[in-house]
Parts: sequence; structure tokens; C-alpha cells
Amino acid sequence: MLEVTQIDQYYGSSHTLRRVSMNVQSGECMALLGRNGVGKTTLLRCLTGVLPVASGHIHFDGVDISKLPPHQRAALGIAYVPQGRDIFARLTVEENILMGMARFPASKARHIKEEVHELFPVLKTMLARRGGDLSGGQQQQLAIARALVAEPRLIILDEPTEGIQPSIIKDIGRVIQMLKARGNIAILLCEQYFDFAHELADRFVVLNRGEVVTQGTHADMGSEEVRRLLAV
Ligand SMILES: Nc1ncnc2c1ncn2[C@@H]1O[C@H](COP(=O)(O)OP(=O)(O)OP(=O)(O)O)[C@@H](O)[C@H]1O
Ligand SMILES: [Mg+2]
Repeated sequence: MLEVTQIDQYYGSSHTLRRVSMNVQSGECMALLGRNGVGKTTLLRCLTGVLPVASGHIHFDGVDISKLPPHQRAALGIAYVPQGRDIFARLTVEENILMGMARFPASKARHIKEEVHELFPVLKTMLARRGGDLSGGQQQQLAIARALVAEPRLIILDEPTEGIQPSIIKDIGRVIQMLKARGNIAILLCEQYFDFAHELADRFVVLNRGEVVTQGTHADMGSEEVRRLLAV
């Protein structure tokens, strides 16, 4: 589904991504792991098109999307839940969710599906509240809901557990499990909370200083090597 081939990215003279290759298949959860500042968010931004790549290719469903702007990648079915969530603080919860449907014709983009309320019952009780008034955990759920209403075929989550209370982390884990069970969506989960990623991931890659330094299946994830690479 998503195929990343040897991409490089630079911030000025600093070489932030070095020949990064990886892929994510439909129906699986791929974990992107690595310490602070190794280039995880930079890689995700390159995938969504917010940042250009200097070289290399990104294919989605066989189509080279490396040069497409973000809205065209979104239209192909790539949704992004950014680190820090980026909720529209002054818009209501309902308006925030509807923003996720901006890629659909107006006739379709005005009604939140029941499914979203089932995945995030807490949001249903808060539709008229302003996004900025929600707790961090509720905002994270809102950001995921906003991404899902776009009916993505690939959802990219950047550290969804960062700064979130344990009960909501569990809720978010359940939502990701449910998405996996559907089997028709690819999930790229960037995480520093190892146990959370371990529970959900079918495969993983570890970045270090902009390079993929190791990768493997769920079974390899608890190895000494991986733990050493992630230890602070
Ligand atoms: N806009 C920017 N301009 C210049 N350098 C940047 C910019 N954004 C990030 N960097 C640098 O690029 C490197 C990779 O940053 P990135 O945000 O991708 O890391 P990360 O793995 O997502 O870290 P974290 O786990 O803290 O979110 C870091 O050294 C960071 O300081
Ligand atoms: Mg980051």
C-alpha cells in the first residue's frame, strides 16, 4: 500500500533523513520507533506532503506521490494525526470532526457517521464544546476521529499517547485494534511508548539519526537490540 524508497530530507545543511526505506500494508499496524529527535515526525511529514523530499520515492497503491501536494495525498486516502494534535481550539468538537471530511462533496460532508460516535462515545457528549476546552486526551481522540471521517486507507499517527492519561491511552489502543480488525486500512503508528506500540504492531522499524537501523516483525520487537536503540 505505502512504499517508501530511499528518501532523503534536509533542514538547511542538516541531513535529517538518510536513504529511508520502509513499507506499510493494508490491514497491518507498522510501528515507527526511535528516540527524541531522530527524524520520526520529519518522515511522517514527508509522507503527507507537508515537507518535500530531496530524493527518493513514495508510492501509494503503486502511484508515485512523492511530488503531490498534501491535499492530493489526502484525496488518495492518506490521513494524518499530527504530534500535538492540532485541534482547532475555537471551533466546536463537531466542527473539528467535519473538517476531516473537507475532501468530500458538501452534500456528504455535513453529517458525522454513527460509527465515529461508537468509536469515541465521549466525543458524542461534547459536540457543541470548543475544541480548546477539551482535555489533552479528549483532543487526541478528536484528532483521530477527524482523521477517520476522511475514510482513509492509510492512517498515520504521530505519538498519540504523548502526555495522555492511562485510561484514554487504553481507549486509543482499543480503537487501533478495531481498525486493525477491519483489515482494510494501513496503520503507521509512530510511538515512544514501547509497550503500547508492542501490543499493536505487526511489524516495526527503528530510526536513529535519520536512518533505519533495524526492523522486523512483532516477534523481534522485544529484542535487546531494539531496547538498546530506544533506551534514553
Ligand atoms: N523545522 C525544522 N527546522 C530545522 N530542523 C528541524 C525542524 N524540525 C525538526 N528539526 C530537527 O530535525 C531532527 C528530527 O526532528 P523530528 O521532529 O523529525 O524528530 P522526532 O523523531 O519526531 O522527535 P520527537 O520524538 O521528539 O518528536 C531534530 O534534530 C530536529 O531538531
Ligand atoms: Mg516527533
